[in-house]
Parts: sequence; C-alpha cells; structure tokens
Amino acid sequence: MEINILGVIGAGQMGNGIAHVAALAGVQVVLSDISDDRLAAGLEVIKGNLARQVAKGKVTEGDSAAALKRISASVELTAMTPCDAVIEAATENEAIKKDILAKLLPHLNPDAILLTNTSSISITRLAATTDRPGKFMGMHFMNPVPVMQLVELIKGIATDEPTFQAVLALANRLGKQPIVAEDFPAFIVNRVLIPMINEAVYTLEEGVGSITAIDTAMKLGANHPMGPFELADFIGLDTCLAIMRVLYEGLSDSKYRPCPLLVKYVEAGWLGRKTKKGFYDYSGETPVPSK
Ligand code: CAA
Repeated sequence: MEINILGVIGAGQMGNGIAHVAALAGVQVVLSDISDDRLAAGLEVIKGNLARQVAKGKVTEGDSAAALKRISASVELTAMTPCDAVIEAATENEAIKKDILAKLLPHLNPDAILLTNTSSISITRLAATTDRPGKFMGMHFMNPVPVMQLVELIKGIATDEPTFQAVLALANRLGKQPIVAEDFPAFIVNRVLIPMINEAVYTLEEGVGSITAIDTAMKLGANHPMGPFELADFIGLDTCLAIMRVLYEGLSDSKYRPCPLLVKYVEAGWLGRKTKKGFYDYSGETPVPSK
C-alpha cells in the first residue's frame, strides 16, 4: 500500500497545511471543503505560505509551482474516489466529523485508507462508524503544519498493520517526525499542552497575573516560543475548549474541568486569531489584551 493520491477534507488551518506539505513532497492532493469560497481561501493561504518559504530560500520557485499544480480542489466528494487515502481535517466536533465520514464513504475506493486529524477524539469510536475500521487511523499534525516537525500516529483498536505501515511511510515522506500515541483522549501533545493552557486561564481568572505577565512568564521563564494565551489564540479557543471537554468526559477526572473563563470567551465568539479577537485583540498593528 503506497499513498500517492491524498484527499484532504477541510481547507482550514490544518487542512491547507496538510495539503501544502503533501503536495511539496510529491503527493497528488485533492482538497475539499463545503464551499468554493472556503476552498479559494485555503488555496490562497497555501500560496502565501509557499511564497514565504521561497522568500526564505527553503523551497525553490520550481518546487513551489509544481506543488501548487499537484493540488486540485472540489466541493464534490466524488472527487475523492481516486484517492489512496483521505484525511478528514474538519472542526474538532465529533458530530461534524461523523457526518463528514458518513457522506464520504460512498465515494471512497474500497481499498482507500481513511484518516482523521482529530486532536482529541477517540479513533476507535470514529472508526466504528465507518465500513473500514481496519483501514482507519489517526494522523494528527501540529499547527503550523509546514513548520512543525511532529505528527502523532494513533491506531484504533481495529487498525491493521499494513494501514499503519502505509501511514508511517507517508509521515516519513512528508518529512515529519512520527511518534506513536495510544488511543486515549487527546493522545500525547494535547493531553499535556491543553491542560497547561487551561491552567493559564485559571491563573488569569484568579488574578495571579495579567495576560501579558503570564505570557511573558512562560516565554522567558520556560522558553516557550509563544505564551499560553498567544498559543490559545493561535490554536483557536473553541478547539482548546473542545479538547478540554473530551479530556474531562473521557477521563472522568475533575482536574480536566474547563476553566469557566475559557468557556466565557468562547461563548462571546472570541475564538482567537481567526475571529480577530481572543485573549488578544488583533484589529490593530500589534495585538493587545482584549480585556
Ligand atoms: N507556513 C510556512 N512557514 C511558516 C509558517 C507557515 N504557516 N508559519 C511560520 N513559518 C516560518 C517562517 O517563515 C519562519 O521561517 P524561518 O525560520 O526560515 O525564518 C519560521 O516559520 C518562524 O516564523 P516567524 O519568524 O514568522 O515567527 P516565529 O519565530 O514567532 O515562529 C511559530 C512562529 C513557528 C509559529 C512559533 O511561534 C512557534 O513554534 N509557536 C508554537 C507553535 C505550537 O506550539 N504549535 C503547536 C500547537 S498545538 C497543535 O497544533 C495541536 C492541536 O491539535 C491543538
């Protein structure tokens, strides 16, 4: 099993990043989303990020142009039929993911591998809703996908060895460092990272420090490239909250309870960079704390 044609469902920040790295690695990509506008926006981001890599001398003009040619885009899931594997990279919402999988299945080649970029949801549970639990697994990329080295590979209870080996080979071909995580809520990275962000929100809520004090503390005191609030805005506060809820429900442990202040920001629609407002306000030249 070799993956030479990859379908990517979702042209948002994760989907367009996955399409970008796959196309640069010589894989044909079929990118899909629910509207032409979303597809066009995703392709613009890919073009912008490739141009940035060309400007930095990391990618040649020729390789960038060839990568863009390898990406076709369609709102029709019938476009997924030639794919050797399809990765779902939609919103971190179990109902939406299950709905996409159900709509996708009739259009898949019977031998196609089905992947999810979920950052927290049970692979076994998602696999059980499909016709191919043996050919289903998690392949979790980090944001920004073109920059971050890691990819988490997660087998469900039924995932077969040829599928795992094919996905491992794909991860290596994309130039990523794969690690294997067991199918437990939020796997490895988000099991550690998102509770840290949630704790930063409690630290803010209790008045221990301001947004800038906490971010500065973690950047200069722990050498993190971004403070927890900058990072939460970058990931998306809705995604952070969704992952905390998966941890809380999946592990039945009160230590994972989402901070009410995080819930409040999400309820306000302050979701981070993507809505121009989260813990920081991005409407000016430099971000400033929104409260
Ligand atoms: N595409 C291509 N290149 C990109 C890029 C993108 N989307 N974003 C940044 N870059 C490149 C820049 O061109 C730059 O390249 P050089 O090293 O050649 O100069 C490099 O990445 C660094 O970028 P910048 O100089 O613009 O900015 P920076 O030094 O502040 O780094 C960052 C930006 C890489 C995002 C850094 O701040 C960082 O590592 N932040 C933490 C990111 C992180 O933790 N990600 C994981 C989130 S958790 C997750 O993804 C899991 C989940 O499920 C929620």
